[in-house]
Parts: sequence; C-alpha cells; structure tokens
Amino acid sequence: MEYNKNPQARPTLQNIKPYSPGMPIWEVQERFGLTRVIKLASNENPLGPSPIAVEAIQRMLPELHRYPDADTSKLRKAIAYEKGISFDQIVVSNGGDELIKLVSEAYLETGDEVIVPSPSFSEYEFGAHLMGAEIIKVPLTVDYHYDLEAIIRAISPRTKLIYLCSPNNPTGTYMTRQELSLLLESLPKHILVMFDGAYSQYATASDYTDGIEFVKEGYSLIVLQTFSKIYGLAGIRVGFGLASSEIISHILKVKEPFNVNALAQAAALAALTDKEHIEMSKSINHNGLFQMYLHLNELGLSYIPSMSNFLMIKLGANAKYVYEALMSRGVIVRYGGSWNLPDHIRVSVGTHEENAIFIDQLRTILQESEITNG
Ligand SMILES: Cc1ncc(COP(=O)(O)O)c(C=O)c1O
Repeated sequence: MEYNKNPQARPTLQNIKPYSPGMPIWEVQERFGLTRVIKLASNENPLGPSPIAVEAIQRMLPELHRYPDADTSKLRKAIAYEKGISFDQIVVSNGGDELIKLVSEAYLETGDEVIVPSPSFSEYEFGAHLMGAEIIKVPLTVDYHYDLEAIIRAISPRTKLIYLCSPNNPTGTYMTRQELSLLLESLPKHILVMFDGAYSQYATASDYTDGIEFVKEGYSLIVLQTFSKIYGLAGIRVGFGLASSEIISHILKVKEPFNVNALAQAAALAALTDKEHIEMSKSINHNGLFQMYLHLNELGLSYIPSMSNFLMIKLGANAKYVYEALMSRGVIVRYGGSWNLPDHIRVSVGTHEENAIFIDQLRTILQESEITNG
C-alpha cells in the first residue's frame, strides 16, 4: 500500500469539461468599458420574471429561518393539476440541470452507454461522465433533425439512457410526435429516455409533442421541464421531471432533502399560475423570431428555423470574428464552436428593442468586413 500519494479524485472526473456559461453582462461592461450591454446568450426570458412570482418571494422572506418543504408538496400539487398527472409522478429539482444529474446518479453505472444527440445540451455529457458511463454521440441529420435510424443503430445491450432534446438546444429543431412514438415503440425495455422539454412552451408546430402524453401512456420516459425559460426564473433554479411513479421513486432516493429552496418553491408556484406572463412571453418570442427572420433574410444570411427562443445563424468562416465584434459592441451571443458548429452563432430572442440592436450591430459588422455566407 502506498501512503505517500495525495488523495486521488475519481479518474472519470478527467473527462468532465467545465460548463461554459454565457458571458455575464458585468464582465463585458468591464472588459470593453461599456455602459449598455445586452445579453442574448443564455436563452433567458427577456420579459423578466412574473411579477406575481416576485411578490411571492417577497412574502416568503420573513420565513427564511425555516427549512424548505423537502417534498415540494404545494408545487408538485400545482404541477400535477396543470399537467394532468399524479403527484407521485413528479420530482422537483434545483433547475433542470440537477434533474439531469439526479437521473444519471439513479440510473448510470460505469460502462453503461448513454446516447446523446449531437450537437445538443452539454449537461447530458456531464451526467454521463460523472458516473463513468460511455457517451455515444449520434449526429443530427444535415438539416439538424433527429436521425431516428442512426439512434436505433447506436443501441446496444449496454445502452441505459437516451437523451432527446426537443426543441433542441442549440439548433431549435424538434422531434415530431410521430417520430417519438416510433422511437419509443422500437426501444428495448432496458432503456430509459430523457425527453428534455426545457423549451417546450415555445414550440408552435401542430406535430410537436412535449412528451408528457407518452409518460401518461406508460413508456419508460422522463420529461424534463424548467422554470428558467418561459417562466423567467433562471436565477432562482427550479426544474422538474415527470415520469412513472416507479422512475420517480428511484430519483427521489438520490435527491438531497432540501434541494429546492423556499424562495424558489414559492416563486415557481406563483409563476405557474401567471397565465398572462406566460402568454406575453410566448408572444414576445414569436414576434421576436419573425423580426429576426425578416432582417436576416434582408441581410442574405441563412439560419436554422427555430421552434424555440433562440436562433442559430450561419456566418461562415468569420462567425468567431463576428461573435467577438458583437461582444465588443455590447451584444453577447454564443459562438457555435463549442457545439462543433464553427460557422454559426446562437442568439437568444430578446425584446423588440434588443433584437433591433443586435440586427443593427450585426449589419454594421458585416458591412465593415464585407462578410457574406453563400
Ligand atoms: C436544453 C436544456 N435543458 C435543460 C436546461 C437546464 O435549465 P435549468 O437548469 O436552468 O433549469 C437548459 C438550460 O439552458 C437547456 O438549454
């Protein structure tokens, strides 16, 4: 036995790449000496939080000496009512991110295989690496849709979990109801599907499904949803999962008792009932997407039509340059390089004014550098 070695972290941690969040506004302000900076990089709700949720937080403040409800009972009841599902089919988490970690901890062992569409949300890989599972990436088709046949071909006896993100981050494309049904029907029984519907509420296509109907039909499927996007509560961290009571019971075993703080529970409960805020958020997004499409068409730029609150824009070889130039002018977007889309930038839909500033700055940068993307 060697006694002179430092404590060794688990080898699988070497596979974990740090998460790269959108650059915060203050950092860009400091770096470029700017006063006004707009952030269109993290798919947040440009309308802000529901005012009813803000009031609920304020009402809760005098109770902060109490631990939160470990069962998130009121919130789960409200979600159960809203989604037409039973209380024991719901788990509430510290953001959707935590749900991905909890599912990984509950289901994955070293050597298991996890099928991850590519490109998609990076946290799926984090969860798999954390547990020493192997990631099998299945590329989207050339037009950025799910390749069902390739997913089915990638299945092996070791496959434990399949992620499907719809609408998919970062492409904004989605899986149709019929495709999901076909896929679920052809899966062997030992596989769990995580259907990530973080952006579900933005999808408008008639053949879109948020996956919940398939949970109700009894498939081995867990649906992820979040309060960070349409509900405008990214800063307070609440997400939830919907699945069979059996799947939920396994996830509850690995959950910390007080994973969702008291303010977050109160805010989410209020946001769920604020239909006016939800409808306004949808409409701002819908109009914002069309505002962007119109001007991008004028500029002769191509983009991936989106069912979500963000848009992938193709800029060719100068995409990184444009991303940096936008930042230096006070518009933070995401560069596509981290998703292996080095010709693209991803821009979140903002308010009408924010979108107009983005378009103006983009136009100026392109004119100055005469970039076109064929
Ligand atoms: C596809 C997808 N899933 C899940 C999440 C997690 O969101 P949160 O942890 O804020 O609930 C995000 C956040 O950006 C996302 O894009």
